[in-house]
Amino acid sequence: MSKIKLTPYQQHVAKWKNCEQCDLHCHRKRVVLCRGTVPCKILFVGEAPGASEDVVGKPFMGPAGKLLDSMLEEAGFNEGPVSYAMTNLTACIPLDEEHTKASEPPKHAIEACSHRLIELYQLCNPEAVVWVGELPAKYGTVLLQEYGLKVAAKITHPAAILRMELNTRGLSYQRNVVILEELLERITAPWNYQ
Ligand code: URA
Repeated sequence: MSKIKLTPYQQHVAKWKNCEQCDLHCHRKRVVLCRGTVPCKILFVGEAPGASEDVVGKPFMGPAGKLLDSMLEEAGFNEGPVSYAMTNLTACIPLDEEHTKASEPPKHAIEACSHRLIELYQLCNPEAVVWVGELPAKYGTVLLQEYGLKVAAKITHPAAILRMELNTRGLSYQRNVVILEELLERITAPWNYQ
């Protein structure tokens, strides 16, 4: 009987889909690994899955994800040849002490999940990373620099934009779109930046 050969990404999914490396696994519904194209030119790294992602099993599926998708569309990501994928610092939802609401991922979980993130980064082999929020920028920069990351951009987390007063939301949204447009330009026309 011939054995089915898994692709490197399928092997990655098989390796992590039942991960129990930290205590976040106790309360998750699903492990949330990646959405998009692997390998890709741009890898988006967010914080952690929220309630929607925990149910669906893919990153950025809730209201913040919808806002991110809309920014990407406005910046031209769906028009050109630039492939992208999305993931998070942790693959499981971090819950508050009562285990009722999503919270910020704790340091020990980010560290435990860093092997998975590095593995995905290497499979994606991106030309650039976009940190979606402060926390990914803080932890991810140090982590991925060691693995050759040279180009990175940071955008305001769409969940933070959704929490802003209405009169400041538009500006933050547009600022993110400009950052994404500039990154896209840099990736598609690298000679501009030599
Ligand atoms: N959804 C995600 O997948 N990541 C975030 O950081 C926020 C919402």
